[in-house]
Amino acid sequence: MDVLISRERIQARVAELGVEIAAALPTNEVVLVGPLKGCVIFCADLARALHDAGVAVEMDFLELSSYGAGTESSGTIECRKTLTDDVRGRHVLLVDDIIDTGRTLAWAREHILELEPASLRIAAFLDKPSRRTVEVPVDHVGFEVPDLFVLGYGADLAQRYRELPYIGVKTD
Ligand code: IMP
Ligand code: MG
Repeated sequence: MDVLISRERIQARVAELGVEIAAALPTNEVVLVGPLKGCVIFCADLARALHDAGVAVEMDFLELSSYGAGTESSGTIECRKTLTDDVRGRHVLLVDDIIDTGRTLAWAREHILELEPASLRIAAFLDKPSRRTVEVPVDHVGFEVPDLFVLGYGADLAQRYRELPYIGVKTD
């Protein structure tokens, strides 16, 4: 595994994102909403970074599926689980590990907007802008990455490598 973004750079950037997002939020309360499972590591770290920046955080999750076991999106989004809590009138931050084609976050955004939140912002830990096929307004990005299949910090290959504390690229 080649390390593309080190653990130290990730930690520093997530702390910055906490401050950046806290400043952009209309109030000091937010509901983080993430599509399982890729969002969980970033969501957990960002929740604590937001806490450090003075924001009260709730979390909720969607379960969507766009990838099979391979490295290419199937193109179809399947919703396996919607939100548990009522986000009507709440300030929501949609959070994911990577925005690639944009299909996942575009679908999640439309879905959440139908639930009538007071506001909706989007944070993606990694952004692969060269791969975008669907326009999505992403408000906060951790790092831009080139068109490589990356692993770690939530990003998986057939459910493996999510726990890596760095962003890596498989060499073999
Ligand atoms: P999109 O719908 O094409 O934007 O894809 C978003 C989802 O695909 C992310 O939530 C990731 O789970 C997954 N994904 C996209 N690129 C990668 C990658 O390089 N490594 C691992 N997962 C990826
Ligand atoms: Mg994912």
